[in-house]
Amino acid sequence: MLGAGLLAIALSSVDGLPKTLDTLLTTVIAVVAVVFFAEYLVRLWAAPESGHFASLSDGMARLRWALSANGLIGLLAVFPVVAITFGSMHANHEAAPVFCLFWILKLSIHAPAMSTLARVIANERATLASVVIIFIMILVSAATIAHMLERESQPKTFGNIPEALWWAVVTLTTTGYGDVVPQTVGGRMVGSVVMVSGILVLALMTGILATGFAEEERRREYLRVWDQVTRVPMFAELGTVTLSEIVGKLRVRHYPPRIVVVRRDEPGDSMFFISEGEVEVRLPHGAVALSQGGFFGEMALLDRLPRSATVVTTQPTTLLVLYASDFYEVAANIPSLVEAVEREARRRRAENRGEAAKVETS
Ligand code: CMP
Repeated sequence: MLGAGLLAIALSSVDGLPKTLDTLLTTVIAVVAVVFFAEYLVRLWAAPESGHFASLSDGMARLRWALSANGLIGLLAVFPVVAITFGSMHANHEAAPVFCLFWILKLSIHAPAMSTLARVIANERATLASVVIIFIMILVSAATIAHMLERESQPKTFGNIPEALWWAVVTLTTTGYGDVVPQTVGGRMVGSVVMVSGILVLALMTGILATGFAEEERRREYLRVWDQVTRVPMFAELGTVTLSEIVGKLRVRHYPPRIVVVRRDEPGDSMFFISEGEVEVRLPHGAVALSQGGFFGEMALLDRLPRSATVVTTQPTTLLVLYASDFYEVAANIPSLVEAVEREARRRRAENRGEAAKVETS
């Protein structure tokens, strides 16, 4: 809906469109605006249901939502309805680019990356501030030196430091419009140093943000795993220190029903703990169901043999995956956990052998 609205606004800014297309685009903009208006009213009405305002009365919850960033952005997105209702067709055309700005803000509400970015910037603020200070230092020094070197030959563009700053910003960000160019040898040498510094500073900034994003994602995954680990009883018996060690090695995976997680005779590189849902272990002699708290895939890792059975989810299932290299590390560091796994694997092997023998004799 938002995409259609933005596209219609962009196209409607083209001059000389045929009348029918113009009317169609205006209609699309109007429809999108009315849908946003309805969405705003529904969200306002449903505000008391939100966990954030649980302790407030209905009226206060709605007021607090209306004054929150989401509420204000929602309200801005509704403005086009007012323009469409009360404005003339011509006025709508004039206002369309403003709708575009309001609507693009709506994207920020629904993009989870925005909140991650805000958190990354908050976490890395000290490092980012150092880079910004370096950036400003280079900028001001470059503008000052360029002003001193170029003011004689180009008094219009380098006559004072604020004017030279424009050249410094364009050069340091490696944009290079080419509207202002140093002419003296000294000025060009400063320009070269500023360009290379610009690349280094931007690379530094990119590196800090990329590391921040990766770190944030790792932290979230850790919390996700921690939440799921508490549902598996065999982990609950471990102490907090041991638990935090294993949590760092587990990965959360969500599966819909009827998905083959491991296939018989294929090599195994991981084992799985069931934190929610249920799986079916399909063995030659029949099927066994494993539910929350159970585990599978351990035999291939312990015996270093191909998978002994096919395991399929029977309902939406959340699994905690432990990769082979981490499994062997856990075996060395947390023997009590792996002993419990080994005990169950021995029982399963014996059961499978017994069932296989029964099939042979019958
Ligand atoms: P693996 O052989 O790696 O892959 C298939 C898995 O099915 C196996 O490890 C066990 O975790 C599980 N499995 C095999 N036999 C049984 C059984 N009798 N009961 C429950 N689970 C089993």
